[in-house]
Amino acid sequence: MMEDIFNKKCLENALAENRTCESLNRTLGPIGLILLGIGAIIGAGIFVIAGVASVNTGPALIISFAIAAIICVLAALCYAEVSASIPIAGSLYTYAYMTMGEIWAWLMGWIMMAQYLIIAAVVAIGWSSYVVGFISSLGICLPAALMGPPGFNGGLINLPAVMVVLFLTLILLRGMTGSCQVNALMVFIKVGAVIFFILVGMTFINPLNYIPFAPFGLSGIALGVALVFFAYNGFDTVAQAAEETKDPGRSLPIGIIGSLGICALLYILVAVVMMGMVPFNLLNTASPIGFALQYVGAKWAFTILSIGAIAGLTSVTLVNLYTNSRTLFAISRDGLLPKIFSNVSSKSKVPVFSTLFIGIIATFFAGFFSLSNIFEIVNLVMLISFIVIAATVILLRKQEPQLERPFKCPFVPVLPVLLIIISILLILQLNLYVVGTFMIWVLVGVALYFILKKYRKNDQKEVI
Ligand code: ALA
Repeated sequence: MMEDIFNKKCLENALAENRTCESLNRTLGPIGLILLGIGAIIGAGIFVIAGVASVNTGPALIISFAIAAIICVLAALCYAEVSASIPIAGSLYTYAYMTMGEIWAWLMGWIMMAQYLIIAAVVAIGWSSYVVGFISSLGICLPAALMGPPGFNGGLINLPAVMVVLFLTLILLRGMTGSCQVNALMVFIKVGAVIFFILVGMTFINPLNYIPFAPFGLSGIALGVALVFFAYNGFDTVAQAAEETKDPGRSLPIGIIGSLGICALLYILVAVVMMGMVPFNLLNTASPIGFALQYVGAKWAFTILSIGAIAGLTSVTLVNLYTNSRTLFAISRDGLLPKIFSNVSSKSKVPVFSTLFIGIIATFFAGFFSLSNIFEIVNLVMLISFIVIAATVILLRKQEPQLERPFKCPFVPVLPVLLIIISILLILQLNLYVVGTFMIWVLVGVALYFILKKYRKNDQKEVI
């Protein structure tokens, strides 16, 4: 039957079930969630992509970071309302299942998995180049065959990227407490490095570098917004930890808005300092912050910053592997994927098969692909997610007016509608190659949905 593809999940039953049967471990409070969010947010966006963005914006990169932050805050307010009222793992997948129906939920889960997988692999590849650069500055050189994917400067495998993904998968398999400790350590190191850069760098600001402020006008700033979006990706992953959170109605909004607010402030300060240190046209480099320090002669500070960048990229990879495994867990628990994906170890309270499955796929992509031309898909998925979360706020207010809302997004429906319009306008700026690749992924997802559905039907018939 085709019509059952639009079946919705009953909200009351799901909430009641969530209150009574606990499978994952509730260990996270507001601080743990803020650390998780910062863990997912600060990474390649500021340590790598900001340089390329600045060449398109000039010093007005500061404005691009501020505009992207404002758009993300609109989305964060929507996420805060929905995740606090529906504190169930799966994030947008789960919300779409309750408000729009099964096939939309599956597609949301499918594209979110692509996003988390691409981020985990791309950032692990970035991690590898930082580490290779760092150890070669100590005089240790790896053979070219072990430093890149096949067909890339004589490479066979990107061994450092493979090792970091496998190592982080093992940490995730050991349980949430240990993973959070590793994440917290990485967050302290990377935030420390960013603050260190701001404090050291501001003593080297030359006001002449801010002129001209916006050499490429509004179009340059808009392109900058599209590029730095990647840097803010991650605050929504806090919602994925709903079932591992104590007092989710209060903690989730604090975690989502808090982590985004702290990162936005740090990013804008980094942009102010970096653009004041170096003429913008020199910043087209893969390590813009490090370059700025070298440019002003503070080479000693570069080593400290590299350690911060490596920590930053580690935590982004870790959190994206984590969120991907929880998405698989939620989809499987609803029966749309085989049951094995939602089996939780009684000892570590971790969905072991999902975690291993995602770890192995991410290892494969990180080790054997370059992925540099598809990372923009992440921005597209982010904008689609903004549209879905904004629509969910409006739909839920209509469909479930009595639902308990520990946090309420202000100015509904104006704010969500504004977010939908802005997101559509930004999607229209993305290049066609990215949209085309994304559409292929969606079609594969639709095909897989119907194949799995057919098998589910056959299984049910056999049981009868
Ligand atoms: N926001 C994450 C990063 O910048 C994806 O690496």
